[in-house]
Order: sequence, then C-alpha cells, then structure tokens
Amino acid sequence: MITITVCIGSGCHVKGSRTIISILKDYREKHDLEMEIALKACFCQNRCTEGVVVKFDEEIVTGVSKDNVIEILEERLDID
Ligand code: FES
Repeated sequence: MITITVCIGSGCHVKGSRTIISILKDYREKHDLEMEIALKACFCQNRCTEGVVVKFDEEIVTGVSKDNVIEILEERLDID
C-alpha cells in the first residue's frame, strides 16, 4: 500500500493539482489498485514555487505535472 498525498494549496492548485488527482484516480481504477493506492489531499507544504508537490508515503516529490505523474507513480509502485 502506498499513500499518495497531493497538495491542494492555492499555489499547487494553480499548477494543476486537481488534474493530477483525477489522473491518479483514473489510473487506480483502471488498474484495479484501490487496495494498493490511498489518495489524499493536503494543504500548502510551503514549497509552492516547486509545485505541484506530492508525497508518496513520506517522500516529497516536487514538480509533479500531468505529464510525469504516472511515471513517478510507477517508479514507486511495488506491485508484481
Ligand atoms: S500550495 Fe502546494 S506547496 Fe504551497
């Protein structure tokens, strides 16, 4: 199980955090990973200029976008 926490503070919101959440939701549903991926949202992580900020468990990843989020996720998924 991995917990993904997407910043929905205003800085990250402007950079597309809502789109990232919906991409992650779609991916989770499409690959039947409801039991493996927990999705959460959080408020500002004080790194707004580096947004979108996403935590994969306790690892903070910055510069997440709709173009790289799946690649970043798949690198961290521990599923056979
Ligand atoms: S709004 Fe996301 S880090 Fe500040």
